[in-house]
Amino acid sequence: MNWLARLLGSSVGRKMLVALTGLALVGFVIAHMLGNLQVFLGPDALNSYAAKLKSLGALLWVMRGGLLAVFVVHVGLALKLAAENKAARPAAYARPGRVQSTLGARSMVLTGLMVLLFVLYHLAHFTFGWTHPEHATATEAVQTLTGPVNRHDVYYMVVMGFRQPLVSGLYIAAMALLALHMSHGVQSVFQSLGLNNRKYEDPIRKLAIGLAWVIFLGNSSMPVAVMAGLVDLPGA
Ligand code: HEM
Repeated sequence: MNWLARLLGSSVGRKMLVALTGLALVGFVIAHMLGNLQVFLGPDALNSYAAKLKSLGALLWVMRGGLLAVFVVHVGLALKLAAENKAARPAAYARPGRVQSTLGARSMVLTGLMVLLFVLYHLAHFTFGWTHPEHATATEAVQTLTGPVNRHDVYYMVVMGFRQPLVSGLYIAAMALLALHMSHGVQSVFQSLGLNNRKYEDPIRKLAIGLAWVIFLGNSSMPVAVMAGLVDLPGA
């Protein structure tokens, strides 16, 4: 545990932890999006996938615990670093670097906090079923159309949620903020881990921006498809 104390005790170590946890979160966001995109394959595909995840039982809880820990470390240390940077640099940069001067770089704390708010709303919406409890449990009649009765009907929940323009608009706006956050965050990972090299600066920037666009377009395609009626309840 000595190494952990040393890592947390230095700002370079804290930067590395923010980078590594950020990388893990990017992995989660990609995997989560690929899983959710099965909404385009129909109710059975999405609901079977959700049921498979649930059947992992204790392992799923271990994964959820790990994800929560990674999230808390990422947000906590990133905020601490931002506060330290501000205290150490009361005046503006004398020589702003290229990466530092982008909109994504300047708004990291703001976009990060907005994404945090989105995740809290998202959990209240889909995981806990607090914001629309009527969507969390499909009626028996709908379940017979979308699959076995008593199976958690994620497809129904997603379609009913995204049928509301306000909810869909909120998700799309949140995805734009997440993409902006990631477009700078992914570039920073290389810098924080000491992997940045002038030669790779341009490909790294393109990779980060490309990935951010993939996440934005992939995730936004779901609310857009529901609102356009391309993804709907069977028989609707
Ligand atoms: C259009 C985009 C998205 C859709 C359709 C979507 C859909 C869902 C659904 C349906 C669930 C609940 C699954 C269940 O009840 O079995 C869920 C859980 C979750 N989502 Fe998303 N999600 C999206 C974007 C995101 C993003 C961008 C993040 C993170 C930045 C995220 C983080 C989470 C987390 C942390 C959970 C809880 C996982 C768990 O309980 O195991 N989601 N999402």
